[in-house]
Amino acid sequence: MAIANQKGGVGKSTTAINLGAALAFQGERVLIVDLDPQGNTSSGLGIDRSEISASTYQVLVDNALIEDVVEPTSVRDLFLVPATIELAGAEIELVSLFSRENRLKMALGQVIGDYDFVLIDCPPSLGLLTVNGLSAANEVLIPIQCEYYALEGVSQLMRNIQLVTQNLNPSLVVEGVVLTMFDGRTTLSSDVVKQVREHFAETTYRTVIPRTVRLSEAPSYGEPIEAFDPMSRGAIAYRELGREFRRRHGRS
Ligand SMILES: Nc1ncnc2c1ncn2[C@@H]1O[C@H](COP(=O)(O)OP(=O)(O)OP(=O)(O)O)[C@@H](O)[C@H]1O
Ligand SMILES: [Mg+2]
Repeated sequence: MAIANQKGGVGKSTTAINLGAALAFQGERVLIVDLDPQGNTSSGLGIDRSEISASTYQVLVDNALIEDVVEPTSVRDLFLVPATIELAGAEIELVSLFSRENRLKMALGQVIGDYDFVLIDCPPSLGLLTVNGLSAANEVLIPIQCEYYALEGVSQLMRNIQLVTQNLNPSLVVEGVVLTMFDGRTTLSSDVVKQVREHFAETTYRTVIPRTVRLSEAPSYGEPIEAFDPMSRGAIAYRELGREFRRRHGRS
């Protein structure tokens, strides 16, 4: 599943880390692929990027094997293909490579049977990296932030998903929309929830992720919220999102 929205800072990486961890704690074997040169998911999972020798870049550009690049995390059953800043160059280097849109799909094909779920954290753009994420996935999860202009750019994203479906990956579907950074004190947040639920009636997750300081603090400790503060509202929400996700996938 690709986690995508070209709008920046909507909670893609936070959702990759914490949904991934929630699923792992619930008994699934999960691989997260960090497809963003910013590497927020890698650092948020406690990976020291200065110490890794191979990353998503080598997988996409140098044909490195995923199994040689995968790192364990502090959570049992949660694994990561980390990203480094090198990946920024891949957006351009991929252009001249054979099968440039399908490099991640080809690489993941070798390990797909080893995991119950693979989550791909896409960068905030619609370039070749995101196209690789979408073409490798069966499903897209779209995080939408409960803020002004929440739906801005979503129609562009939907058009791109449609293009990928038509040209590269007919099995791709929008699996869900998850509302993030909900602030119960504002009517704006509630308005966005209502608007998104009208727009994506069937696909919007019932679980809404609240805006909480603990969720924004956890990455600096290199831990998912479930390990950092399991009693917090953020941990409860991502645990519930994990359960809802597993129900949708016939896992419980
Ligand atoms: N529910 C939340 N409550 C409070 N802060 C949050 C929440 N979700 C995310 N954040 C914070 O908001 C910022 C953006 O979140 P995140 O990095 O997950 O978004 P993103 O969509 O991956 O961003 P980018 O587009 O840059 O990759 C981060 O500092 C993160 O810690
Ligand atoms: Mg991110």
